[in-house]
Amino acid sequence: MLVIASANGRVGIGAAMDMLCGGGSALDAVEAGTRLVESNPDDHTVGFGGLPNLLGEVELDASIMDGSTLAAGAVAALKGFEHPVSLARRVMTELPHVLLAAEGAARFADELGFQRKELLTDEAREIWQARMRELDDKNQNPDTPAYLQTLARWVHEGPEAKAQAGTVDFIAIDGQNNIASAVSTSGIALHYPGRVGDSPIIGAGNYADTRHGACAFTGRGEMSIRTATAHTVVTHMRAGMSSLEACHEAAKDLKNLDDAYRGATSFIAVDRHGNHCGVSNRDATYVYQDESMAVFAEVERTRIDA
Ligand code: GLY
Repeated sequence: MLVIASANGRVGIGAAMDMLCGGGSALDAVEAGTRLVESNPDDHTVGFGGLPNLLGEVELDASIMDGSTLAAGAVAALKGFEHPVSLARRVMTELPHVLLAAEGAARFADELGFQRKELLTDEAREIWQARMRELDDKNQNPDTPAYLQTLARWVHEGPEAKAQAGTVDFIAIDGQNNIASAVSTSGIALHYPGRVGDSPIIGAGNYADTRHGACAFTGRGEMSIRTATAHTVVTHMRAGMSSLEACHEAAKDLKNLDDAYRGATSFIAVDRHGNHCGVSNRDATYVYQDESMAVFAEVERTRIDA
């Protein structure tokens, strides 16, 4: 049994491992771990406490995938609910769909009785307001806030353009050797309202196939959507590469992209035998824990050229 996660998964990996050790499935484990990150107000990239869009609204994306059936569920641009990963799981299990967005996703959450919650914390609001003031300072017209003149302009010119998209990634292998993966995020800080990243896009930010392995992505989702990064990594493992070789190969596709806002790019991967790795184009770590370990280990990611 094994759980691997992005470094911000520290707060949830113990719960995920406990789930596996208690007989829970890989799906149960990745959901349990992700939920604790979604509830962490100090993490400004995921769930409660996540940084909002340009209008100050927290919009959440998440997905979950069962590698043994290739069943998947996802939600995008969800407002007002703390645990998009759990809603994604219910999309997978209770609807004949994979991805629900915005009002439809919120409606489904209401139908299921999920608790509504204000997700914008005081700290996140202050960060958002400070960035909005930076935008206003660039503006020559004192009567109209700059960011309200045309949002599209500020997506290109504002401080958010270079902002990195943080994400939490979890992959687990359970006692029956099933693999599952989950990804959750509040997306790029100060994004255009309704912007959806890679995290709820199966094959881009998240992919699991028990026959071969799994991969989950952190970074600028527009890039992993364009190269279907998570699925590409799994496809390379299917062709016989190790998890690390597969990540290096997928990184070549990312490197070849013309993208003005390229930034930190990281992913974690594991093959069907439990051989795992984390990679990044800058200094970064990931965490893992197997059933022989009392606590998780945090290790350096291998550098990729991406
Ligand atoms: N990778 C997260 C996002 O782009 O939203």
